[in-house]
Parts: sequence; structure tokens; C-alpha cells
Amino acid sequence: MRIVDLRSDTVTLPSPAMREAMYRAELGDDVYGEDPTVNRLEELSAERLGMEAALFVVSGTMGNLVALLTHCGRGDEAIMGSESHTLYYEQGGVSALGGAIIRSVPNLPNGMLDPEDVQNAVRDPANVHYPRTALICMENTHNRCGGAVLSPAQMATIRAVALRNNVPVHLDGARIFNAAVALGIPASEIAAQVDTVQFCLSKGLAAPVGSMVCGSAAFIKAARRTRKVVGGGMRQAGVIAAAGIVALEQMVDRLADDHANARVLAEGLANMPWFDVDMASVQSNIVRFGVRAAKAPLPQIAQALAAQGVKINPTSAVHFRAVTHYGLDRADIDAALSTFSKVMTELA
Ligand SMILES: Cc1ncc(COP(=O)(O)O)c(C=O)c1O
Repeated sequence: MRIVDLRSDTVTLPSPAMREAMYRAELGDDVYGEDPTVNRLEELSAERLGMEAALFVVSGTMGNLVALLTHCGRGDEAIMGSESHTLYYEQGGVSALGGAIIRSVPNLPNGMLDPEDVQNAVRDPANVHYPRTALICMENTHNRCGGAVLSPAQMATIRAVALRNNVPVHLDGARIFNAAVALGIPASEIAAQVDTVQFCLSKGLAAPVGSMVCGSAAFIKAARRTRKVVGGGMRQAGVIAAAGIVALEQMVDRLADDHANARVLAEGLANMPWFDVDMASVQSNIVRFGVRAAKAPLPQIAQALAAQGVKINPTSAVHFRAVTHYGLDRADIDAALSTFSKVMTELA
């Protein structure tokens, strides 16, 4: 049975060109700065984001952690959205390991923060009672807001608050290239609104492992030290960096196919009587949709779908999230829609 895995774009497998590049990669000890393939990936990443320098890390979680630990000292505060991945799914790493505080402001349904909320959350540096506001974070595309895309103009409104208060901005850009492709602009135009970015090679771009932290040369120099203390100094990491280079060179433009497939999936689901889909929210490769008065709880529906070859995760008691990605084509989406219809007819 062919499996249509809609759980995440992290399930993507490396392309044949990636496997070939990994096999042929020139290697060295990257902790000594001597792995030419890692060095090339870091240069390419910085260039694509229009930033001075970049650092190869193991995962998106490590990328955000390294960036936040580098920005924030003990007792400092980082402002971020209430639905942000860093707040929800990264174990509060900057607090647990770095003694910094996370202060959340409500995420709007479109993935944005209200600039007024952010301004109100920034601490008065003259008041000795307060922690120091050391960072403001955004996320683009926004995972828990259904893959919402933030435009540079939207991001500029938060940037303005940050500049007014002399606070740097970090972007969790795990899917920044999805945002760039959806907007039809280079990723550097998005990155221009922030000081540092974390982006993932291992999601829609289909590399097997890795993320990049990008920023100024001075910031990346400091982040390199932080990476070492969290155990992220890798040795012959060019083996995996080689796939990351292919990801950036060959896998960005095709994200448009994933976005088109997500739309087809969303339209198909919206036409079925059991689901609520807000089509305006389908902006990239994520489809978050509600289930109306199902007779079965969502985990049971997910189990029935999996038994018929469609894998999907609930994100709440009444919502599913489906993610399109490399390895799924239009025929897979059509097959998944038929399976949804069949399973829901039986269950709902
Ligand atoms: C927005 C966002 N940030 C960070 C991460 C963490 O990435 P990783 O799973 O590589 O740690 C994810 C993973 O899904 C994500 O969606």
C-alpha cells in the first residue's frame, strides 16, 4: 500500500542528488573550521539570506536555542508569540539551560504579533525591578497558525518597535523559504526585517539533517561558542552539509508544488460535509482544518485513516494538521482525499 504521510514535512527523504553529494563530499574537522563542505554551506546560507555569516546546527530546536542563548543572558527576557514553536515545542530551552525568561504576547490568527502588545511587553530599562528585554522573536511561516505567511511589510511593524527600543529581533524561519516562495520574493527580503534567523534544511527542503543560524559575523562568532557548549560542535559534518547545499540549490523553487498541493487538499476537504477549512488560512504547505461533530474522537479517525494509508496528526481535540512536501504528488493528494471521504463516511 502506498502511504500518503501528511503528518509533517520533516518526513521527507533526501533526493538522489543529495545522496550523491553526501557520498562525494569533501570533509574535514568542522570544530577546527576545516570542513570545506560545511564552510560552503555556511557561506551559501548567509548569501541566500543576505546576512554576513551562518552556522550549521543539528536541528531547528538547536538553532533557536543557540540563537536565543547568544542573545539572552541569565535573567533576560525574550518576547515571543503565544503560539510560537519555540514556546510550545522546545522545552523552554532558553530558560532551562540559560536562565532567561520567555514573555509571550498573543499570536494573531495570521501568525503576526500586535505591535502595540509587543511595545507594552518591552520593559523599561531604567526600572531596577524588571528583567531586561533582550530579544523579540517572530516565526515565518507560522506553524501553529496553519503555515501563515508574514510579509516583510507586516514584519516591519514589529521591527519598528524593536528599533525604537533598541532590542534585536530573531526569526524562527524554519520554513522561511516556504514564505519566500509563497510571496514570490527572495528569502533575503524577509531576513532584512530581523537581526538573526534560524532556518531548517530538513523540512520542505528535504535534507536529512540540519538547520542554519544566520546573522552578523560578530553574532555568529559568539553563536559558534554557544553551539559548542550545547554539544553541537560536529566533526566531519560535511557528510550532511552536502545535502544542505543541494537543498538550497535545487529544492527551493519546487516548494511551490507543495503549496499548490496544499490548496488542492484544502479545497477537497472544504467540499466534504465533515470539515471546516478556512481557505484564506491556507498560504503555504500546511492545512489546518476542523472536524465538525465527528462521532469518533480525532485519534480514532487518525487511526482509521492510517489503516487505509493516510497518516495525519491532530493538533487539538477538534483540529487536524496536514502538511504537503517533497515525495507527495498530486495523485497522492487525490488518493488521500478519497480515503478521507471513505473513512469519514464509515465513522462520522
Ligand atoms: C516553526 C518551527 N520551528 C522550529 C522547529 C524545530 O525544528 P527541529 O524539529 O529540526 O528541531 C520546527 C519543527 O517542526 C518548526 O515547525
